Amino acid sequence: MDTLTLIRPDDWHLHLRDGEALRAVVAATARQFARAIVMPNLKPPVTTVGQAIDYRDRILAALRETAGDEPACAGFEPLMTLYLTDRTPPDEIRRAKDSGVVHAVKLYPAGATTNSDAGVTSMAAVRGAIEAMQAAGLPLLIHGEVTDASVDVFDRERVFIDQVLEPLRRDFPALRVVFEHITTQEAAQYVATAPGAIAATITPHHLLYERNALFKGGMRPHWYCLPILKRETHRRALLEAATSGSPRFFLGTDSAPHSKHLKENACGCAGCYTAPHALELYAAAFESVGALDRLEGFASLHGPDFYRLPRNTARVTLRRESWTVPEALPFGDEAIVPLAAGEPLAWRLAAG
Ligand code: DOR
Ligand code: ZN
Repeated sequence: MDTLTLIRPDDWHLHLRDGEALRAVVAATARQFARAIVMPNLKPPVTTVGQAIDYRDRILAALRETAGDEPACAGFEPLMTLYLTDRTPPDEIRRAKDSGVVHAVKLYPAGATTNSDAGVTSMAAVRGAIEAMQAAGLPLLIHGEVTDASVDVFDRERVFIDQVLEPLRRDFPALRVVFEHITTQEAAQYVATAPGAIAATITPHHLLYERNALFKGGMRPHWYCLPILKRETHRRALLEAATSGSPRFFLGTDSAPHSKHLKENACGCAGCYTAPHALELYAAAFESVGALDRLEGFASLHGPDFYRLPRNTARVTLRRESWTVPEALPFGDEAIVPLAAGEPLAWRLAAG
């Protein structure tokens, strides 16, 4: 098989940043995806519907400015999210639902990751907002890691399931939940079997790499993301989930751009930049287990079905063509290193 045609996919978990960084990355996603769920962890975070609408306008302006009328980017639709805080009023949730612009609310446990300082400090503080989400059918997107410094960084997702996720879902059984960027066998198992409306996104890096990638021949900051890469047994479980055909698993790159300088740093930022070659990376992962026939469901069908949005109708084609991921790409006045820089890939998206 030398070509693979899919319904145009969407990215259900994406960081686009703002300003110069936004201008540097937005076209890369629009070339690959019809829509993207845009994370709200800006500085300051996107906590109100008004801010989400303004951010959406900036995204579309940056795309016009950098991609002009390039056909591959036409019609790209940013799907906005709100950043949940201890002080999010239930009324803001109702406004979000009515806006038609905000499609979900993101829960960052305070301190879990990049720009999460304003995140949730206790689940008790957000009960009113979550009640409103449950009533409105607005999905809650969860960064599922405990932040307790005494819990090993490799165990934080597993512990979150027992300590936070299960109690939350017992209290709010009708809440629609996306467990974001899952990284463990336990999370895959939980999502596959738990009752109620739950799904998970899976990144290309967690499908392709296990934690040894962080230390191959030395420290490898471009493989550092949160939740951190786990052991090979977990990677295998994620591949199995992604290729299982279950509608509960779908594509979310978590493409998280940081400049080369901020990654290759004494205290390097978490995040892998995968937007320019996301589909090619997913194709490599699916092909590694002989499951390319399952890629369309994962990339193009399960996400819109969960979000209750129409499936796309346009198509994209991947061709078998060996090429090498660039060592670096422009990022405003700086450079950015894409994941798998310098490595060969076997599939390439045909220009739209
Ligand atoms: O690796 C990550 N980078 N994980 C996150 O949860 C946030 C993201 C970012 O914003 O850089
Ligand atoms: Zn993210």
